[in-house]
Amino acid sequence: MVTNKDIKELPRYQVLLSLNKIVKNPIPLITETMEKHGSTYITYLGGVAKTYMTIDPQLIQHVLQKNHKNYFKPKIQTEAISKFVGHGLLTINGDYWLKQRRMIQPSFHREKIQGLVKIMNNVASDYVKEIKAKLESGQKEFEMHYEMSLLTLKMVSRSLFSDSISVKDLDRLNDIISVIQFTIAKEIRQSMFAWWRKLTGETKRAEALRAEAVSIIENLIENRRKSGKRYDDMLDMLLHSKYEDTDEGMTNLQIVDEVMIIFVAGFETTANALSWQFYTLFENQNAQQKLRVEIKSLDKEELEFMDIPKLPYAKQVMAETMRLYPPAWLTSRIALEDDEIDGLKIDKGDLVGLFIYGCHHNKDSWDRVEEFDPERFSKERKKDMVPYSYFPFSGGPRLCIGVQFAETEMQIVLHHLYKHFNFELVKDHPVELQPLVTLRPKHGIKMLVSHA
Ligand code: HEM
Repeated sequence: MVTNKDIKELPRYQVLLSLNKIVKNPIPLITETMEKHGSTYITYLGGVAKTYMTIDPQLIQHVLQKNHKNYFKPKIQTEAISKFVGHGLLTINGDYWLKQRRMIQPSFHREKIQGLVKIMNNVASDYVKEIKAKLESGQKEFEMHYEMSLLTLKMVSRSLFSDSISVKDLDRLNDIISVIQFTIAKEIRQSMFAWWRKLTGETKRAEALRAEAVSIIENLIENRRKSGKRYDDMLDMLLHSKYEDTDEGMTNLQIVDEVMIIFVAGFETTANALSWQFYTLFENQNAQQKLRVEIKSLDKEELEFMDIPKLPYAKQVMAETMRLYPPAWLTSRIALEDDEIDGLKIDKGDLVGLFIYGCHHNKDSWDRVEEFDPERFSKERKKDMVPYSYFPFSGGPRLCIGVQFAETEMQIVLHHLYKHFNFELVKDHPVELQPLVTLRPKHGIKMLVSHA
């Protein structure tokens, strides 16, 4: 571990001068700075907050796991989400977070995911039919980031509400969540223009959309409470979960906030991972062939929970895709008290920037860093991985609650897509990183689709 005197501190004026580059795409800048000054350096996030930007696995493990109690999510990361989505798992800290996490965790247990596989399979099957209909009508080119966003929104919303929500309300909710997602990205990345968004009424419009979404979800909750009918979905689980100490359930507003958080945390991350895999598998036809063989040998149309472990290569493909293109590319924590890790002092109020993208491309942890090789995640080779050199779902107690949900969903989607279709990248289509809150393909991923 480096000590404070070995760490380069970028002067604030230099950070301010680079603001333009930071807004456009900070990944190359952070990478270059690390190449020059080592795996940890000091910068000023947003021009103000002193931040240890790092790809050091030991420091990351310390912050996320070993001394996690001393590190909260900072406002810079959570405020915009709380404003438009609410106060739920992703945005809260401390005792309230622990209470909510304990309450909600069982809704994501293995046996609960088992119940959701049927829903996920149906959504994926319907999607295959939609694509086939579009191919019939002559469409050949598809923008897969847009496609995957619609698909994963449907996956999350159907998993939350099954078919207890009207198509009209579901469509409206999906539209609202998409707009809110966009507003959050702007709030975080272009905080200096908040006054402009207020002036033009953009902020008010987003607030009104949140109010509309809240009212749709509240109605659903009220109806379910009145009818007493049980459903096989996540809203049912949230409605019937109880706090350990009081044996009481959540209020309607708490459930609304958690539902909105699950939406926002769950759909874009998965959509990005699924979009990038079209590119990685197009670039590596051998891996694609191997995936097709796995799907063919399973020889099933409708997937059940017990089929999921029979698609290990699909899981490896997604793991390696998220190594190269981690949907959550950066996260951060703020120190509540002074701390020391092996000679490195971090003062109360300092931030630590965990550069997930950089860790996944770190030459000290990976050989042939830029090469797409799903074999890295085979059972045998996974054992040699340095802890916290790979953490697309974060780690420690605040590990993504949706890991199993996302992994299962992505295996199901790959199964259906590669069973039925061929995908070819549109010639000369530029593929570029756009790191907003999540890591998107800047110009989307345009593919030519045909029957397999
Ligand atoms: C490929 C897909 C996904 C990726 C890469 C991903 C990544 C992450 C990461 C990195 C965090 C931690 C953020 C931080 O510590 O700053 C997180 C938290 C979270 N994720 Fe995911 N996620 C994915 C899918 C999902 C899905 C499908 C759901 C729900 C259905 C979900 C729900 C959540 C929630 C509620 C949290 C907050 C957990 C807590 O703090 O207790 N995520 N996710």
